[in-house]
Amino acid sequence: MQERGQWGSRLGFILASAGSAVGLGNLWKFPYLAHQNHGGAFVLVYLGAVLLVGFPIMVAEIVMGRRARRNPVGSFALLATGRPGGKAWTAVGFLGVVTGFIILSYYSVVAGWTFHYIVLSLRGELGALASEPGALQVYFGQIFLGDGVQQAGYHLAFMAVTVGAVYFGVKGGIERVSLVLMPALFAILLALVIYAMTTSGFRPALAFLFRPSFAELQPSAILAAVGQAFFSLSLGMGCMLTYGSYMKREDSIPRSVLEICCLDTLVGVLACVVMFSIVFTFDLKVTQSATILFTTLPTLLVQLPLGDLANGLFFVLVAFAALTSTVSMLEVVSSYAIDELGWSRRRATLTMGVAIAVFGLLSALSLGGVPALSRVNLFGRSSTAGVFSSLDYLAANWLLPVGGLLIALFVGWFLDPRDTRDELETGRARLGRSFGLLRFVLRFVSPLAVGAILFSIIFLGREYQ
Ligand code: PHE
Repeated sequence: MQERGQWGSRLGFILASAGSAVGLGNLWKFPYLAHQNHGGAFVLVYLGAVLLVGFPIMVAEIVMGRRARRNPVGSFALLATGRPGGKAWTAVGFLGVVTGFIILSYYSVVAGWTFHYIVLSLRGELGALASEPGALQVYFGQIFLGDGVQQAGYHLAFMAVTVGAVYFGVKGGIERVSLVLMPALFAILLALVIYAMTTSGFRPALAFLFRPSFAELQPSAILAAVGQAFFSLSLGMGCMLTYGSYMKREDSIPRSVLEICCLDTLVGVLACVVMFSIVFTFDLKVTQSATILFTTLPTLLVQLPLGDLANGLFFVLVAFAALTSTVSMLEVVSSYAIDELGWSRRRATLTMGVAIAVFGLLSALSLGGVPALSRVNLFGRSSTAGVFSSLDYLAANWLLPVGGLLIALFVGWFLDPRDTRDELETGRARLGRSFGLLRFVLRFVSPLAVGAILFSIIFLGREYQ
């Protein structure tokens, strides 16, 4: 077997993992959910979900990955040998690889839109579209989404860039890309926050986000918060497990997980600050549609001084965030092919990348380009019409929570606690009593919380997207 890659530095690992976590989930989904669930109280519940579900499950994934030094399938195969359930656990790893394949296939379609918007702002056309009321909505919904050639083209372009980054390996590709893109992303976001501070909507935005009103908190908001924590922290499909498998033994897992969770949450909260400042400045009605990032925001950014520049920068930010996430999904699938099928990295990334890109064409063309694909509905709900929406529903509502639940159960109940502790206390970390607390959360609290979500989806028909 070829030598396994490793991160060049701890910072590289942190930025790559934070890069995986920070993505479309933070920039679009989180602000939208925060708005729908009345702000303050939701943000607080989300923080609770990150702490009680996100943090422990990320620890569990990284412990597994670093212990086994394999992809999700190989890690389960190795760690489950001789334990209850035995090799059947490899199915959980396989589920993760399949989930990565599916999410990447449609995520890259949305990510591709950012390329189109960057092209539009470079040509100066975005400003023109955005300054005429309603023009961008019409352009986006009726022209761009339905243009199969463009949808396919931008999706393939985004996949090509993703393959390009993963092709060069853990250190030479993923880490190098993250070391440049993540600081750039933070800088752009900071610039936008400073920009937002000058608007009249800034104070109301802060009040909305940080003044909890529990009277308005619905039970569904709690489910929404937990589901969002999974998606946003890239948990439940072995993504953090895979990144953890390249982590050095000396580096502390709890500390790294804390940093990744904080960075991801910070980006989500700052994205909210920016968007709500704009929303309140222009007294905007936020619609429930997935297109808010692409239709409403440019309309508003263009009204600000230097609007064209703000728009261009903003979509570069979104593209960066999406790229470091797509890279992590492809890495899960590729590492499986490398470890389990014995392929070379080049063969794995190219073959899997092409397979995912081709499969993703179904999603790209289901947005209006090919009517037959828009009619496919795997779940029969109005919100799941079309290949794209069906796959998103499948992945976010089922595959990630089920995967996360099983990972928590495996590490909490079946992995030898001495192994877990040993893995957590490498480097200089000494956990003392907090190990017991972490283990308790992993055995009971996280599985119960996730179980409650699945129960509510199955029996109460609730969606949390
Ligand atoms: N966390 C990413 C985001 O917020 C999405 C993602 C999910 C990435 C699962 C990898 C694995 O956009």
